[in-house]
Amino acid sequence: SPPVSDLLVTGGAGFIGSNFVRHVLGATDDHVTVLDKLTYAGNRASLDGLPEDRLTFVQGDICDADLVDGLVGRADRVIHFAAESHNDNSLRDPWPFLQTNLIGTYTLLEAVRRHEKRYHHISTDEVYGDLELDDPERFTESTPYNPSSPYSSTKAGSDLLVRAWVRSFGVQATISNCSNNYGPYQHVEKFIPRQITNVIADVRPRLYGAGQNVRDWIHADDHSAAVLLISERGRIGETYLIGADGEKNNLEVVQTILELMGRPRDAYDHVTDRAGHDLRYAIDSTRLRTELGWAPRFSDFTAGLADTIAWYVDNQAWWRPQKAETEAKYAVLNQ
Ligand code: NAD
Ligand code: DAU
Repeated sequence: SPPVSDLLVTGGAGFIGSNFVRHVLGATDDHVTVLDKLTYAGNRASLDGLPEDRLTFVQGDICDADLVDGLVGRADRVIHFAAESHNDNSLRDPWPFLQTNLIGTYTLLEAVRRHEKRYHHISTDEVYGDLELDDPERFTESTPYNPSSPYSSTKAGSDLLVRAWVRSFGVQATISNCSNNYGPYQHVEKFIPRQITNVIADVRPRLYGAGQNVRDWIHADDHSAAVLLISERGRIGETYLIGADGEKNNLEVVQTILELMGRPRDAYDHVTDRAGHDLRYAIDSTRLRTELGWAPRFSDFTAGLADTIAWYVDNQAWWRPQKAETEAKYAVLNQ
């Protein structure tokens, strides 16, 4: 059996980071150290029930160079999820995005450079900008960067820092850019959980603009499996796109949620569109599939969505404390 590694996972109390920690502890014998600041988006309860002898939790900031240096020095590998992740927040106040996504990534890169540790960088398909609805091409690893929002531009900047640290300093890094994730433990500010929890609370879902914007949905479990594979076996210096051929427009998603929750398909409201709203994202994940043999396990979006709805119905204690505060932020922005 392979030797047991110690993985430093930043942002491990967030939506995808906590999913990844559960995945690693289930699929390997590795030990995980989570570094998470527990911002409004982090929740220690997302890691409840995991084996305590294989998980160490450190509350702290990825911009804290001394803390990061010590943790990286003790780890075998670093997997970097921590970020400010929500586009709407970045339109309201971009500063935390520059601080965490750029300075935080820089701080980690300097530590992995000093300690010569393998590093995997989690990023997003939004760095490529958006596509027309009828564009036959999808994003590939060679699509030029063209980000639209403060969020995606700081993620693009962080990816470019990683590429430069590989080329200039020989840092052992890989990058992945994934499409829109869904599943349990996603913050109620994001589209799918916002609408599910609205319906549970008897509030009508809110569709930005006409609802024609397309996102390429992937279950977070499939993202986690891909990240583990790339962090172990990906080629150093390479970028891998992660996507599961799940393109849907927002109107279809809202209608499916309403139907699965026993409401009329038209029981939603149109609200003011997001400024600069990207029209369509679509991922071609051929490299990941052919080079590393990855394939998604969730191919039925409606079934995955039904499971996700059931999780939000069953786990109201996890999300209820955030709901009112989240909706108050939206009330200022676009209602
Ligand atoms: P999230 O907002 O749910 O979680 C982010 C986590 O990072 C939280 O636990 C938060 O406390 C922590 N954090 C934030 N700032 C920090 C700091 N300065 N120091 C330490 N911890 C800090 O985000 P998510 O949706 O799970 O996204 C995780 C990563 O995946 C991000 O890098 C994001 O850009 C990327 N990504 C997300 C998606 C998606 O659909 N959600 C898709 C592709 C890529
Ligand atoms: O593509 C990957 C990205 O997906 C990640 O990098 C981001 O971290 C993640 O937040 C997500 O970004 P989006 O902006 O696509 O996700 P969001 O859930 O905010 O919105 C999804 C779509 O739904 C988008 O077209 C905006 C729309 N929307 C969103 C909300 C919150 C609505 O129509 N109504 C809403 O209330």
